[in-house]
Amino acid sequence: MTQHNGGPRWGVVGTGGIAHAFLEGLRAVPSAQVVAVGSRRPDGAEAFGRAWDIPHRHGSYAELAADPDVDVVYVATPHPWHHPVTLSMLEAGKHVLVEKPMAMNALQVSEMVAAARSGDRFLMEAMWTRYLPVHELARTLLAEGAIGELCSMSADFGINVPYDPDHRLFNADLGGGALLDLGIYPLALASQYLGELTVVGATRRLSPDRMVDTHTTMLVRGENGVTATLECASLTTLPGRAVLAGSAGRIEIERFWAATDLVLHRDGREPERFHRPLRANGYEYEAEEVALRLAAGERESPRMPWSESLRLATVMDRIRDMAGLAYTHPTVKAVPL
Ligand SMILES: NC(=O)c1ccc[n+]([C@@H]2O[C@H](COP(=O)([O-])OP(=O)(O)OC[C@H]3O[C@@H](n4cnc5c(N)ncnc54)[C@H](OP(=O)(O)O)[C@@H]3O)[C@@H](O)[C@H]2O)c1
Repeated sequence: MTQHNGGPRWGVVGTGGIAHAFLEGLRAVPSAQVVAVGSRRPDGAEAFGRAWDIPHRHGSYAELAADPDVDVVYVATPHPWHHPVTLSMLEAGKHVLVEKPMAMNALQVSEMVAAARSGDRFLMEAMWTRYLPVHELARTLLAEGAIGELCSMSADFGINVPYDPDHRLFNADLGGGALLDLGIYPLALASQYLGELTVVGATRRLSPDRMVDTHTTMLVRGENGVTATLECASLTTLPGRAVLAGSAGRIEIERFWAATDLVLHRDGREPERFHRPLRANGYEYEAEEVALRLAAGERESPRMPWSESLRLATVMDRIRDMAGLAYTHPTVKAVPL
């Protein structure tokens, strides 16, 4: 039995790139204890466990689900496995933080939410950008009317990854495509600032094998008629800038998904730069949110509620529909296109 220090005892599922990054963030959360890792491969669990000094190293996800010392599971598999792995962890009585996108489509998200609700477990999508200090500041500035009335926004996230049809980003069987992996960031930002989103238009560029999108451009409208132009790309580096434009100025956030700075431009005044450094690598804030909600006995985060994950998945379904993108992976029970 692992000694309990009062904070949630974490188990990690999947030992890829983001699992390592999340653990680095988690190290900056004093109450966090990582007690177990689950990998499809015993040697994967062993190597990850050694790297992060994790006592329980399980050679299957099922073994981790059965580990009585684990309170909350962080699901860090490729997207098509978010749904089945989350359902099995919830069924085993674990709370779950699942990587973005929460699932492949809105139907899967609704099933995950239903399982968390009926099992009385915590569930949250790991939309880590939302908790960064600089975005807290942006929300405060908007609420204070620093840029007047919000009129429009733009945001893009594009990285130039060498093309490899087997890479997670380009392989449809692994949930590939720029929209689900990168487009969710500008969409989540728009949803956060604009509320309910209506998709007005979407177009995409396909991978060389025409299996997934490598560039998707979206036009959406939020509540009160605020418009947003959003873009994502996996074979092109984009500026990575978010701009919130209002009737009396604008807020610009560079590298908005992992930002530490914003610039406030008030019409007729000198620009003001604000710096809000990260305590670690940025993933510590979402981990703290999980700990906070679990300690309060809550089942969802008011900052990334179930309705928000469902809304994002629904919007992405609609964009895929408009842009002619479909997934037929066996873990995706239904493709609502
Ligand atoms: N929040 C962020 O900033 C951020 C950044 C990057 C990625 N992500 C999200 O995190 C998830 C994982 O991304 P990643 O970049 O960490 O991927 P990755 O490096 O490819 O690792 C994924 C891990 O999932 C496990 N896995 C289970 N089934 C698999 C399969 N069929 N093929 C390959 N791996 C499988 C593997 O771990 P085992 O072999 O140990 O089971 C693998 O190491 C994605 O949903 C992505 O959207 C989030």
